[in-house]
Amino acid sequence: MRIVFLGAPGSGKGTQAQRLMAEQGLVQISTGDLLRHAVASGTALGQRAKVAMDSGNLVSDDIVLGMIAERVIQEDCNNGYILDGFPRNLTQAEALAALLVDLGQPLDRAVLLNVDMDILMKRITGRRTCSLTGKLLNVYFSTQNDLDACTNEGGELIQRSDDNEETIGNRLNVYREQTEPLIKYYRNAGLLATIDGEGQMDEVYARLTAAVGL
Ligand code: AP5
Repeated sequence: MRIVFLGAPGSGKGTQAQRLMAEQGLVQISTGDLLRHAVASGTALGQRAKVAMDSGNLVSDDIVLGMIAERVIQEDCNNGYILDGFPRNLTQAEALAALLVDLGQPLDRAVLLNVDMDILMKRITGRRTCSLTGKLLNVYFSTQNDLDACTNEGGELIQRSDDNEETIGNRLNVYREQTEPLIKYYRNAGLLATIDGEGQMDEVYARLTAAVGL
């Protein structure tokens, strides 16, 4: 199964993709994670990406499309994958459609996670990543046990550098202007499933698996 996740920053795409990967064996392909890895590695590509990411703008299409074209042909993707944070604009969506036709790998679903703006802000500002496991946590929503499980093992709760209020505002604007048009694009293609992304993570996961037929 091949799925696209659509949704504003903080809507829970990464959280739900991690769980689908763990429980259903689908590979999570997060362009944000791939780009953060390139930035941390200090590659030329990473240096170009960093400027856009620090300001909350989209990284250029040629960089992102190249990364995706390389990633989806790897063997671990044979059983299916979740595109988390890609595509982000119409150019990327059309390029993805053409790539998947070439590969004979049709998309099964595009799932939109709907979350209100005030909740998004709290989710983004409270987000932390465990340095040991990569697990997504939240100082407002995770249980103290889950937070302690990371730090008691010597891990750190890391905050993403673009999770500051100034950059978040621009990320949300970019989402509205460039990514929201994809809702109509995937609706017209007959692929869109919209789910309520609010409530407990387990509840969202149940809605998600029902929407994609898992
Ligand atoms: P990216 O990494 O994709 O960030 P994003 O789209 O802004 O999405 P987020 O990662 O902020 O949110 P999410 O929906 O994954 O939420 P999460 O599950 O973490 O992109 C970063 C940057 O990279 C972009 O700004 C751009 O520069 C660049 N980029 C990436 N892709 C690109 C592309 N295709 N083209 C061009 N540029 C690109 O959840 C958030 C928090 O909420 C967590 O703390 C989590 O624990 C918590 N949470 C989740 N669900 C719940 C729940 N149900 N209840 C309570 N808390 C919850």
